[in-house]
Amino acid sequence: MKFFVDTADIAEIRDLAATGLVDGVTTNPSLVAKSGRKFLDVVKEICEVIPGPVSAEVAAVDHATMLGEGRKLAKIAHNVVVKVPLTPDGLKTCKALRAEGTKVNVTLCFSPAQAILAAKAGASYVSPFVGRLDDVGVDGMGLIGDIVQIYDSYPEFETEVLVASVRHPMHVVVAGKLGADVVTLPPPVLRQMFNHPLTDMGLAAFLADWAKTGQSIV
Ligand code: G3P
Repeated sequence: MKFFVDTADIAEIRDLAATGLVDGVTTNPSLVAKSGRKFLDVVKEICEVIPGPVSAEVAAVDHATMLGEGRKLAKIAHNVVVKVPLTPDGLKTCKALRAEGTKVNVTLCFSPAQAILAAKAGASYVSPFVGRLDDVGVDGMGLIGDIVQIYDSYPEFETEVLVASVRHPMHVVVAGKLGADVVTLPPPVLRQMFNHPLTDMGLAAFLADWAKTGQSIV
């Protein structure tokens, strides 16, 4: 399972990259707006910090403009993945960019039918938004299970399932049980994954007992 970090906050990216657990980054227009930074500058800086895939989303909705934007984003760095929405124009752009050798992340996926279209368009990644489905009473992780099951039936589908809109560690656990390829994690969720009270209690007891020995290792 690959861990991408879902943020455009370069300080957070640097901090979490230091854990050695980060395989890539995903951004979107909302995350870029939250960063307060110029889009092209922050994408360039993220690509310098993280050698893995960095998703940068187009802002247009028509194919011609999306294609031009995608080509510009792809030129920023070799590890840029162009993100397009799961719309007819978005998938047309996906197919065109893939034909040029550019990796594409098809985002805003909310149904198995949409995920099939993304795979047929040659998407490198499809991003089902599990948290937003949960928010409206639909089983977001059920969608992941459906997509994984469908994709497993077609070896010609090269699209990786990138679980997005993750809200808590259980989304990650279930994604692992289902065999999703990637999860993209808001920084707080990644940090939450470390936490367990029994770990804290056990470490405190080890340290207390070690202190009683009066020994040191170095
Ligand atoms: O990568 C997509 C993600 O940023 C969306 O998350 O919490 O806005 O549904 P959220």
